[in-house]
Amino acid sequence: MTAPENKSAQTLAALGVRQPDQLAPLFAEIRARFDADIAAVHDEKAWKQFRDAWLGRKSGVLTQITDNWLKPATPELKRVVGQELNKLRAYVEAQIEARRVAVEAGADESALARERVDLSLPGVTRPIGSHHLIRQVFQQIEDIFVSIGFSVVEGPEIETPYYNFEALNIPEFHPVRDDMDTFYIELPKGAPSPLLLRTHTSPMQIRTMEKRRPPVRVIVPGKVYRRDNPDATHSFAFHQVEGLAVDTDITFCDFTGTIEYFVKQFFGPGVKTRFRPSYFPFTEPSVEFDVTCVFCGGSGVSTGGGTCSKCKGAGWIELFGAGMVDPAVYGFVKYDPKKVSGFAFGIGIDRLAMLKYSIDDIQVFFQNDVRFLRQFP
Ligand code: FA5
Repeated sequence: MTAPENKSAQTLAALGVRQPDQLAPLFAEIRARFDADIAAVHDEKAWKQFRDAWLGRKSGVLTQITDNWLKPATPELKRVVGQELNKLRAYVEAQIEARRVAVEAGADESALARERVDLSLPGVTRPIGSHHLIRQVFQQIEDIFVSIGFSVVEGPEIETPYYNFEALNIPEFHPVRDDMDTFYIELPKGAPSPLLLRTHTSPMQIRTMEKRRPPVRVIVPGKVYRRDNPDATHSFAFHQVEGLAVDTDITFCDFTGTIEYFVKQFFGPGVKTRFRPSYFPFTEPSVEFDVTCVFCGGSGVSTGGGTCSKCKGAGWIELFGAGMVDPAVYGFVKYDPKKVSGFAFGIGIDRLAMLKYSIDDIQVFFQNDVRFLRQFP
């Protein structure tokens, strides 16, 4: 805003005005300055400053004109100055009021514009995540076993050597411990027991039997850890589902029937199964459980005509270890081995998922690449 008209600070005599006809151009000049200045007023703060500059009681332009022009005017000029001043005042007051209304409306409008909700805009879509494929496979397995009377329990990932090894009939220096080398937790000196990341879900066999009396039918999904070097089928952290059924009359037939039921539900009825003798210190007899290769349909020949790379031509793929619970294990949980019998199994979930969904590298489960994850919504 330009400074208010300086001429209003001087008397008419000082301005050289002596005749009444000199007054109209003088007031026109003041008014032109007013018009120019008011055009630059766009917000409330500027409007207030402008109003005070023109209408302020002490030193507003109109007060100055009253004091410097009107009051000392000669009788000859006074009447015309009074008329012109009244016209100017009426004009100034009306314009300033009109500008106030305009500024307020403008402020409202810009506030409205800022706050306006455009209902025609597309909404903000927040992508809903999905369960990781491993979690989905856990769920499928749980559904199958729950439907035949098993319940789901979970256990700690940090274990003592007693539950991870000793109570499973794997004493210190047993060669099986070499296959399950793991990560030990650094503990302060004098800690009561070493702690390790569990190498399998089997410790939950012991923890469950310690807490429950037969009949026991549980599955245990969870994460396990081994000091294995990563490759297409090995990871240092992977997933297992343990199964345990103990009762007074469980036979090997119950065991094979349950496993076959699970596999056919999981892979479909076309898949064939077989048991091979194996060894685990906590099951006797122990078996490895194989299914016909889901990639070549058990023929050992790939669709291209060559040897199937997944089963290496065998037509079978190893799925998991299992067996009848070794009577020695019952001794650790105060079950009477003469009265109870049961079976247990431990399924590697990552490899199971790889088979079912034709995934050829276990590492993709842990890389969290959304291009992979989105394929399993
Ligand atoms: C065990 O862990 C036994 N606890 C299973 C068991 C339970 C036997 C109950 C008898 C009774 P094993 O070391 O074979 O067994 O491992 C079981 C499965 O875990 C394997 O078949 C495989 O699918 C998976 N697995 C083992 N090591 C790895 C690894 N480094 N990365 C991914 N999967 C693995």
